[in-house]
Amino acid sequence: MTEFKGLDILDGAQFSRDDIDCILQVADDFNHRLETEHSLDLLRGYVLGTLFFEPSTRTRLSFETAMHRLGGSVVGFSSAESTSTAKGETLSDTIRTVDQYVDLIAMRHPAIGSASLAASVAAAPVLNGGDGAGQHPTQALLDAYTIQRERGQLDGTTLVLCGDLKNGRTVHSGVEIYKHFNCRLVFVSPDTLRMPAEILDGLKTWGIDYGETTDLAAAIQDADVLYMTRIQKERFADPAEYERRQGTYLRSRELIERVNPRLTVMHPLPRVNEIAADVDELQGAAYFRQARNGVCVRMALMALVAGKV
Ligand code: CP
Repeated sequence: MTEFKGLDILDGAQFSRDDIDCILQVADDFNHRLETEHSLDLLRGYVLGTLFFEPSTRTRLSFETAMHRLGGSVVGFSSAESTSTAKGETLSDTIRTVDQYVDLIAMRHPAIGSASLAASVAAAPVLNGGDGAGQHPTQALLDAYTIQRERGQLDGTTLVLCGDLKNGRTVHSGVEIYKHFNCRLVFVSPDTLRMPAEILDGLKTWGIDYGETTDLAAAIQDADVLYMTRIQKERFADPAEYERRQGTYLRSRELIERVNPRLTVMHPLPRVNEIAADVDELQGAAYFRQARNGVCVRMALMALVAGKV
């Protein structure tokens, strides 16, 4: 198993099955302890820097909540405009400066590879909270934890991943996790927003059973989980192309009840119009529980890379 102390969390592909099992076990332990304890105090005196150059609700606030629940504290920013980036400072210089102040760095940035760049200049462990259309590994781990909790296990489940699979970083990281659990993967997207070829090639190499279709109703019929994603408006150079694609997979309660009422419905959020509000009342609608799971999974990651578990 990987030595976690000091590790940068950059990419879903960096983990072995043992690594993932360890992270999810620690997260589950923390989750249970939070039922009776408000703070676990494992990282008392530690400071987390949250450097968010792109908008976020869940990732930033759950990282911050996680650090507070571990007894540590947080400094950071939620937009590039409020930092010296606006005066022309490079990302590398910003990271090297923040590295003088904090023990851990959680970062989101619009450029693919930005988290790796940050990790190359920072002594503190860097946790990638999303690098453009690249990776979002902490989200993928909390998604895996959510599937385990909602379905009892992740091994052998059939997952339908739907929406903007080209630009959706949560699914790029997700498949790197699911491949360790012998999941059957079905990708549903418009033709122009398919899962990138290099990721599909990687799945072939691993011998993972996957399919691609545009027919969501057929795909969910035998599925355990539907993982919806937003069409990533901010990644489209042409607004007209976005307008053509958005709403492609608007999901209604009626469809799920008719085709597969036992389906677990997940979404990394924010949703725009991919899931109708009345789906929220279904027992299988797991997306707000999924958001909650972000706290214990990020607690586990920070405690592990700090060498405290
Ligand atoms: N799931 C997720 O990354 O949400 P935010 O963009 O709100 O952080």
